[in-house]
Parts: sequence; structure tokens; C-alpha cells
Amino acid sequence: MRQPVVVANWKMNFGRPDQALDFVRRIRHPLNEIKDVDCVLCPPFTVLMAVAETIARTSIRLGAQTMHWEEKGAHTGEIAPTMLAGHCQFVIVGHSERRATGSRTETDAATNRKVHAALAHDMTPIICVGESLAQREREETHAFVSGQVTSAFEGLSEEGASRCVVAYEPIWAIGTSRAATPADANRVVALSIRGAVAERFGEAVAQAVRVQYGGSVSVDNIDGFMAMPEIDGALVGGASLKPDFVELVKRTARATGTRAASARRRSP
Ligand code: PGA
Repeated sequence: MRQPVVVANWKMNFGRPDQALDFVRRIRHPLNEIKDVDCVLCPPFTVLMAVAETIARTSIRLGAQTMHWEEKGAHTGEIAPTMLAGHCQFVIVGHSERRATGSRTETDAATNRKVHAALAHDMTPIICVGESLAQREREETHAFVSGQVTSAFEGLSEEGASRCVVAYEPIWAIGTSRAATPADANRVVALSIRGAVAERFGEAVAQAVRVQYGGSVSVDNIDGFMAMPEIDGALVGGASLKPDFVELVKRTARATGTRAASARRRSP
């Protein structure tokens, strides 16, 4: 069984230590009590180390919102994997809000280099993929999303590929309060994401990869996503800035328990 993973993507919020630490101190104890879900906080870089100290000795994991693939050099404003390794266990790569900048460091090829760099430095890449509204309306979702996945996984070993997390985030659902329907997200995850991984690495690897849904996830709709067999947690933006993020993670854990029980019933 895949362990679900819920990621709090704070984006450009809670960037001052007093704001960030106040919030983390409120949620860390209840989050630490929740079992069977990986819970990852991705704060802005300005508070990354302070948050790391505040969640030390808990089960909460730390992630970065982006990174460069090079280990050092003349890249003004960038963060190298060597600066994160040892502090972060996860790193978000290829988020659509960054891809939308059109920067040379946010292309499909750059995302693939970041995936390699993350794995080489013992961090789990959270690879964001997802179509725009125009692509969805032109019925290009499958071709586009499976292409993004194939490109992000290029050149990985089976072992490396199995360690990746993919976040299916339809661009039109991010920050809009207009989430995809669970059934629709489940279909894209099965066909376009696991399908693309299976084509290159085989079914066992495709079944090992954890795939989240992201885009207007809240405490009110998480149950629907977690009821879907292909969806292993959520990448949460806006709703990760509120104390009831704890409730969202609890609901994910509850759904995990239900899944485990039905898996036990199915196995002879
Ligand atoms: P949202 O953001 O939950 O605010 O829609 C999700 C994301 O962009 O990771």
C-alpha cells in the first residue's frame, strides 16, 4: 500500500519568522499525533531553517518550494540542492506557477534535471503536472500531462522513479475554489500519469509512485479525493494556511485506514 502524502505549499505566505513559527507551534502537536500519512510543510526560504528547528523531533517533514539543479555557481537568487539536503526531505519541482514565468529554469527539461538532482541528494521530488483550461477544452489533457510525466522521469532508474511523488494539478483548479471532480482527477492519474510511468518503467513502478491531487483542495472536499483508489494525498495551497489544515490531514489518515481495511478484505 502507498503511504499518502499531504503537502502544505505556503507559496509566498508566512515569510516572517513570527508568523510562520506561531502557526507551526499551533499545528505541530496535533499533526505529530497523526499516523500513516506523510505530512510535509513547504515554507518560503526565509523561514525554512526556523521551521526545521520547530518541527525537529516530530514526524512532520520539511520541503522546499523549488530549487536549481546545479550544486553551486553564478545563479543569482537560486537555491542549490546542496543548500537543502540534510534539512529538506522533499522538494516541489515544476509547479505551474513557476512554469508560467516562461523561465529557462522552469521548462520540462529543467524539471527533469531538478528531479535527478533531488534524488541524488536524497530528497523526494514532488513533480507538478497539469493542463490549462484551454488544453482541457481542446481535449489535450492526456497528451499534455503524459508528456510532462515522460519528460520529468527521463533517464531515471526504476528505483529512482519509484521514489518520486507526482502532483496532478490542473492549472484551472489552482486557487480558484473550482477543484476537479474526484472521478475526473482519478482518471487522469490512472491513464495519463501512471500510464506514462508504466509505459517506460513497467506496472510495478507505476503502482509504487505516489500521486497527489492539487488544486483548491480543502477540508470540505478531501474525503472525495481520498475515496479514489489512484489518489495518494494532496498538494494544498490556500487551505494549508489555516489551522483546520490539521483536520484535512486527519481526514486523509482516516481514509487511509479505510483503504487498508478494504485491501485486507480483498487479499485472501
Ligand atoms: P490551492 O493551490 O490549494 O490554493 O489551489 C494548490 C497549489 O498550487 O499547490
